[in-house]
Amino acid sequence: MKALVLSGGAGTRLRPITHTSAKQLVPVANKAVLFYGLEAIAAAGITEVGVIVGDTAVEIQEAVGDGSRFGLKVTYIPQERPLGLAHAVQIARDYLGDDDFVMYLGDNFIIGGITGIVDDFRTHRPDAQILLTQVPDPRAFGVAELDPAGQVVGLEEKPQHPKSDLALVGVYLFTPVIHDAVRAIEPSWRGELEITHAIQHLIDTKADVRSTLIKGYWKDTGNVTDMLEVNRTVLETLEPRIDGDVDEASEAIGRVVIEEGARITGSRIVGPVVIGSGTVVSNSYVGPFTSIAENCRITDSELEFSIVLRESSIDGVGRIESSLIGRHVEVTPAPGVPHAHRLVLGDHSEVRIHS
Ligand code: TTP
Repeated sequence: MKALVLSGGAGTRLRPITHTSAKQLVPVANKAVLFYGLEAIAAAGITEVGVIVGDTAVEIQEAVGDGSRFGLKVTYIPQERPLGLAHAVQIARDYLGDDDFVMYLGDNFIIGGITGIVDDFRTHRPDAQILLTQVPDPRAFGVAELDPAGQVVGLEEKPQHPKSDLALVGVYLFTPVIHDAVRAIEPSWRGELEITHAIQHLIDTKADVRSTLIKGYWKDTGNVTDMLEVNRTVLETLEPRIDGDVDEASEAIGRVVIEEGARITGSRIVGPVVIGSGTVVSNSYVGPFTSIAENCRITDSELEFSIVLRESSIDGVGRIESSLIGRHVEVTPAPGVPHAHRLVLGDHSEVRIHS
């Protein structure tokens, strides 16, 4: 069995935090979303992985390399444009050969991995197996309709009037019959070859399409609340580890990971918290559910329930909560007069000021 990981796509649909970067590399608890997927694939006993890459190919290749770090053998498959998930399967035809495969969308996050699902597929080997999760508003998703026996009878892409609250999760298991299906379909109104149409084609031709209901699914929609929430969930599973320097005047309490090369002086860290290598925290408080990436400076400040991406500095600004701070950001106090905020904010930024 192989894996096909989709990490292509253009940069244009992305939200502020990712607009200069591949959305698959958005960090959760200081690790790229894509890496959790690759680890889950390796844990399921799959070693050969084809990675679809698009505009952000260089960034993805720099991050993933040859895959050996994950115990994987990665082959990159360039996709000229994001022409759809079924298009990605089409261009991977030669790579996949006649193997069964798991297709994994690189920006999706499955809490708890996929080992059980892959084992189940290997045992029963239906023509295709999809993963579903209950969502409050299915209209933004592919939506499945099941018969009373749980067999998938229909799929719709972003329906106005969904027939269920079961959204398709970005992990699919296929036997080679999918290759005929992705060749049989036409592009949708948005010009993409939709995998939902290919699976619908399987259903229409009486193939055995099964589904598994899962919990613990997350996808970056650019929603900060969701992102803080998934970060919280993952931080709660951290194995505490202090590889960096914590001086005598500091304390680290609870589930705290301090990476090698990080330095904590005169500060209080209350987990779950992760602090990346090269980051210096001094005279500060870092409270629960906070991830601080590599090479940041946190000085004379308090941070809680927040994400700070790499190379940013927060200096002498009091308390920051429920915040997502991008890369190379500087947060500093303004001079005493005039009593004014001075802001340099990128596109789509959002600021809440307590005055
Ligand atoms: P998305 O663009 O999010 O695909 P979607 O159909 O879920 O889009 P929307 O949110 O608008 O419904 O892409 C999902 C993942 O697949 C993401 O990691 C990018 C990747 N991808 C490709 O590699 N090639 C493609 O042609 C497409 C459409 C996506």
